[in-house]
Amino acid sequence: MSRLVCVSNRISLPRKSAAPGGLAVGVLSALKRTGGLWFGWGGETVEGQPGDIERHIRDGVTYATMELRQRDFDLYYNGYSNQLLWPLFHYFLRGMRYNVEERDAYEAVNRQFAQKLLPLLEPSDLIWVHDYHLIPLGRHLREAGVRRPMGFFLHIPFPNIEMLRVLPSYAELLRDLTNYDVVGFQTENDLQAFYSGIQHLFGAEAIRGDGRVRVGERLIRVDVFPIGVDVATTQNEAMEAMSSDVVRRMYDSLMGRHLMMGVDRLDYSKGLVERFSAYQHFLETYPENVGRITYLQIAPLSRADVKAYVEIRQSLEQAAGRTNGRFADTDWTPIRYLNRNFPHATLMGMLRSAHVGIVTPLRDGMNLVAKEFVASQNPDDPGVLILSNLAGAARELTSAVLVNPYDSRAVGHAIQAALSMPLPERRERHAAMLQILRRNDIAAWSRRFVEALEKVDGSEPRVRAVSGGS
Ligand code: F6P
Repeated sequence: MSRLVCVSNRISLPRKSAAPGGLAVGVLSALKRTGGLWFGWGGETVEGQPGDIERHIRDGVTYATMELRQRDFDLYYNGYSNQLLWPLFHYFLRGMRYNVEERDAYEAVNRQFAQKLLPLLEPSDLIWVHDYHLIPLGRHLREAGVRRPMGFFLHIPFPNIEMLRVLPSYAELLRDLTNYDVVGFQTENDLQAFYSGIQHLFGAEAIRGDGRVRVGERLIRVDVFPIGVDVATTQNEAMEAMSSDVVRRMYDSLMGRHLMMGVDRLDYSKGLVERFSAYQHFLETYPENVGRITYLQIAPLSRADVKAYVEIRQSLEQAAGRTNGRFADTDWTPIRYLNRNFPHATLMGMLRSAHVGIVTPLRDGMNLVAKEFVASQNPDDPGVLILSNLAGAARELTSAVLVNPYDSRAVGHAIQAALSMPLPERRERHAAMLQILRRNDIAAWSRRFVEALEKVDGSEPRVRAVSGGS
């Protein structure tokens, strides 16, 4: 029987507070189902030589963590991963910068990941690499002789070739992806964007009729695996948390007002500045809501050493201050803006209390908050989801109120439509979305990916690396 080995930049250690975002949720759900090893950076940086790998075992899952040198971390994570790949893959060229030193560090850290992982591997392992920090890892493992099936899943969007080729080393990046046996994306859009790159680099004949990609002797299965949520757990968490002290205090403090709620990492891709401006439009256009709605925005700080994140934080503080300064009353604040995190269950309880869930990223691979909002609702009296049509989740949640997040006026109208939506329509939309969430839940996501890895045909030559790095 094969063992599953998941590799990601950041890992979510038991006992520590949960790592933010969908990756941690997804990997943990896969490993809890099958057992196995989760290998990655433990969140510590050091000035000198990194120490030995640390291991913790909990509930059949082994967590193995490595340290990174502070300088490597700055160049590889803050630099290449988050000031080049992240903006580029989210179509934000303005925020992107290319720096050769950072590229070298990205390559070097991926090599370190491979070197530290190699001694931990067993002959029957299935290896599943996650996200944009570790694209070259597959090549490094192949070059070191790893023959086991290897998959890669991208949690964020993949850009079309016209965007991707802004990157000087785009060809290497594409070749690196072909070192995996299975390459997975969140949506059909991302898959088609990947094909556009493959066609550009290797010609249309590289894409076979069955969707697989042939590069030299290598045959790669490429597919869409939309990440989902654990519907039953989310529902239970939300119901139980409704009676928790934190959620009750928040709910009581509304004094019967409507609640609109957003939960996002503080990231410029989440469209928070545009959302704040849409809310202001809404209060201007529908003044009958002044004093009758509270917008709670939870935005834990993220990537705080990166300049663009410092800037977006300042812009948001100004925007919230402007709206509150203009509309607040002695007993009412229009926006409650919090830069802190809460336990997952508490967040689910708060989402269940909300009449409107607002999820309006300017671009997003999937966005699990949108799915969690739907799963957390009371089906008899559900809140309304306003969702950006530029989030991956919009491909599945077509019964949400879909908006273009840049169009502040339209988002303002959508808030009004959501608040005045009759109960039968709310129920109908919610039931349609819940059905989709159940079909594509988190267990289905990891099962389908692992099955794809298991099916990798042993007779196909997987061994020879396709050279990608410089
Ligand atoms: O959304 C992309 C992503 O990498 C998630 O997969 C992850 O959970 C989240 O960002 C957190 O990012 P970071 O590790 O940079 O805090």
